[in-house]
Formats: sequence, C-alpha cells, structure tokens
Amino acid sequence: MSVHSQTKRRTVPELMAFKGGQKLVSLTAYIAPIARQLDPYMDMILVGDSTAMVGYAMDDTLSITVEQLTAHARAVVRSTSHACIVVDMPFGSYQESPEQAFRNASYMLAHSGASAVKMEGGEAMAETTRFLVERGVPVLAHVGLMPQYVNTMGGFKAQGMSDTAAQRIYNDALAHQSAGAFAVVLEGVAEALGRRLTEDLRIPTIGIGASPACDGQVLVTEDILGLGDGHIPRFAKTFADAGAVIRGAAAAYADAVRNGSFPGLENCFGVKRNAE
Ligand code: KIV
Repeated sequence: MSVHSQTKRRTVPELMAFKGGQKLVSLTAYIAPIARQLDPYMDMILVGDSTAMVGYAMDDTLSITVEQLTAHARAVVRSTSHACIVVDMPFGSYQESPEQAFRNASYMLAHSGASAVKMEGGEAMAETTRFLVERGVPVLAHVGLMPQYVNTMGGFKAQGMSDTAAQRIYNDALAHQSAGAFAVVLEGVAEALGRRLTEDLRIPTIGIGASPACDGQVLVTEDILGLGDGHIPRFAKTFADAGAVIRGAAAAYADAVRNGSFPGLENCFGVKRNAE
C-alpha cells in the first residue's frame, strides 16, 4: 500500500504519463466520506454512472441525470485534494450531437470542478470526442462492455470474444485515441485484446475485467468493500467486508439506545446545570 506524499491534485497530462510505466490506480466514488478515504491512494477517482445501480438501486445506468452526477462529482471534488476526478456523462446527455455533448460536458465540469468526462461509445462517437477535446474538455473514452448500451447488447456481456468483435473494439479504441482521448477504459473484453490494445495504443488503457497488462485498473468501490447488492462481477475482488463493520456499528448503537446507555446532553456538550 502506498500513499502519495504530494498534495497537488493530479492532472490529465499526469494521468497520460502512466503509459507503459507505473500502473494507474483508480476506483469509483460518489459521495464525500468514501472519496475522502480513497483519495490518498488513487491517481484517478471516477464518479461513474454506476452510482445509478450501486447508490440508487436502479436496474441499469440509464436513468441517472446530468444534475445528479454533477452533484455527486461536486461532493467528490470538495472532499479530495490528490486524485484527478473524472465524471461520467449520463446516457442521453451526449449521443445526440457533439454540440449537445459539449453543452452538457462543460456544464458538468464547470459546476463540479471535475477535470475530465468519460464517455461510452465506439468509433461513431470519436467525432464527439474530438469536438470536446478541441474545446477544452478532456475525454476518457470507454469501449468494450458499455453498460449504457445494455439494450443493444442484450445484457451485460463480455465483449470482443470473436476475431471480428475484437477487431471492432480495437478500431473503436484507436479512433478515440486519434480523436484526442487522454486514455481509454476497456471494460469486459477478452484478455488478448486488452493486452494488444495496451501494446499498440500510445495513451493509457485502464482495464475493468480486461487484462492485468493494462496501464491501469478501475473497479467499483462498493464491490471491493463488499457493499454491493450481493452480485459481484467475476472480475472484481472483495478486499474488505465493510458491510460487517457497518452492521457491527449499527448493532452496537441499537444496544446503546435500548439499554439507555446513550449519553445525555450534559455529557455531550459539557453543559453545566444551573444550581438554582
Ligand atoms: O460507471 C462506472 O463506474 C464505470 C466504471 C466501472 C468503469 O464506468
């Protein structure tokens, strides 16, 4: 475990410098208390639209809004000082046109203080990546398994398993690199494809269920803390049982309340009773 001694927040060019060197470390965060704990250890914190499922118990990521993700990103920015904060663009907020994407991306960055946006999409969205980058919005591309495409993919399924499918994802990633994306998330893709893209791209690849060869990795924090709904993706690893810690604290609190051992006002604030 290593804690960065530097206090200055990481920038997008600093994330790009992870290409081929030290691994880029990233997790998601949606709220201040979690972001605060993760910050010293992370190069990048992603305010992902996965909060729709993880934080709001929705079935998919489709109905989270620009306003909701902007508010979550603002909380994460305010409670961190080290990690570069990247916010997801929600479904429907960028696919219509590059202009729509710029309008929403610039709103999200201006109102949250995040440094970059992440967008899902293949080669067809590369034009939008270029439009944003040329106007001062850094873009993290996301290819492979794209949860916002759940209805076209017919579920959350591993991608790139045939040669043709792998080549299409390869082309998607290359197109976003040419358009100016600063890095690319590879989600749920065949190991060989993750490795090949990491070798061939000059921007960092950030894997999630892709390949250990990727330049960095990202996971959903609630998955590594055992705070999910019981379904843990096969590629995620649980590093701690935070659920047990929370249940233990809740049970101890409930006992304290029921046993009447909860402190009174005088004990809490050092208030002295007036003798008269
Ligand atoms: O929304 C999200 O959290 C993500 C990551 C899991 C890559 O897109």
